[in-house]
Amino acid sequence: MRTHELDETNMPIAHQTNLGRYCLGDAAELLQTSLGKQIQSKVQLILTSPPFPLNSKKSYGNLTGEEYEQWFSDLAPLFADLLTPDGSIVIELGNSWVSGRPVQSLLHLKALLNFVSHPEAQLRLCQQFVCYNPARLPSPAQWVTIKRIRLTDSFTHIWWMAKSDFPKASNRKVLRPYSPSMKQLLKRRRYNAGKRPSEHHISEDGFLTDHRGSIPHNFFELESMKDGHEVRLPNAFRFSNTKSNDFFLRTCRDRGIRPHPARMPEGLAAFFVEFLTDPGDLVLDPFAGSNTTGFVAESLKRRWVAIDIREEYVEQSRIRFEDPEVRQLCKEDEL
Ligand SMILES: C[S@@+](CC[C@H](N)C(=O)[O-])C[C@H]1O[C@@H](n2cnc3c(N)ncnc32)[C@H](O)[C@@H]1O
Repeated sequence: MRTHELDETNMPIAHQTNLGRYCLGDAAELLQTSLGKQIQSKVQLILTSPPFPLNSKKSYGNLTGEEYEQWFSDLAPLFADLLTPDGSIVIELGNSWVSGRPVQSLLHLKALLNFVSHPEAQLRLCQQFVCYNPARLPSPAQWVTIKRIRLTDSFTHIWWMAKSDFPKASNRKVLRPYSPSMKQLLKRRRYNAGKRPSEHHISEDGFLTDHRGSIPHNFFELESMKDGHEVRLPNAFRFSNTKSNDFFLRTCRDRGIRPHPARMPEGLAAFFVEFLTDPGDLVLDPFAGSNTTGFVAESLKRRWVAIDIREEYVEQSRIRFEDPEVRQLCKEDEL
C-alpha cells in the first residue's frame, strides 16, 4: 500500500491534479472531519453512483437491507450541508431484486425517498431521469435467461435534487444536435401549424427560430437501439464518443489491472456537469471509483474532490489523466 501525502486538513490525498484531489477513505467519515469543513457550502454539484443495495455483500462491502436504507438516508444532511445555496445533488442508482425470488426489491426506491425527504436536509426532487442501457446483459439471470419469466433489467434511476426550487441549471448548455427533419424544417421555413389531436396549438412561427439544438429529454440512451438511430445522450462534447474510455480500458488491460466493474459513462457525467455547473465550480463525487466524475470535471475546467474507500480504484483512476488525446485537447482549450 502506498503512503499518501496529507493535505493541509490532514486528509490522505491519493492523487492530485491542477483542479482536483482524490482522497482515500470512508466518505461519511471524511466528510465529517476537516475535509467536510473545508468544502462546506462550496460544492456546486455532488454527482455520484453510490454502492448499490445488494442481496449479498459484494467485493466492495455494500450494505444490505435496512442497514443500507439507514446508511443512505443519513448521507442526506451531510451532503446538503456541503452544497452552495443553488447547488445540486445527482444520484444514479440501479434496481435491486429480492434474493432468490423473481420480485423487485423496493430498497433502492425507499433509499432515494428517505434521502430526499430527510427532515434535516431540506431537499427536493428537481427531476427524475431514466438512463437506458441497451447493452446490459440479461439479468437477474435466473429469471430472465433460465426461467424466462422476467425481462432484462436495463435502466438506472437518476435523481436530481437540490435545496432550492431553482438550483443553477441551464438546458441551453446541453442542447442536442437538431434531427435531420428539424434542420430541413428550419431551411424550408414552413410546417403544419394549428391544432393537434393532443389539443396543443402550434403557432405559425413557433418552430422557425434556430436555437442551435433541441432541448434534451429526461431519458438517456447509452447506446443506439438500432443502426442509424440517434442516441439520446445529449452531449455533443468530446465524451459523446468513447475514445477516452477506450484509452482507460486498453491501459488497464496492458497493465493487468481489472477495471472498475461499475464505471459511470463519461457522457452522462459530462451532461450533468455542463447542465448544472460553470467552469471553476466545485464538483464532488463521494463514491468515485475509477473517478469518471473527477476526470470529466477536470476536462471541463471544473474543480473536483473525489473519495473512495478502495485504494485499488483510486490507483487505477490515475490512468484516466494519462490519456494523451485528452491532455492535448485540454491544452488546446487553454490556447
Ligand atoms: C458504483 S461504484 C462508483 C463507480 C464510479 N462512478 C466510476 O465511474 O468508476 C461505487 C463506489 O463506492 C465505493 N464505496 C463503497 N463504500 C464506500 C464508502 N463507505 N466510502 C467511500 N467509497 C465507498 C466503492 O469502492 C465503489 O468504487
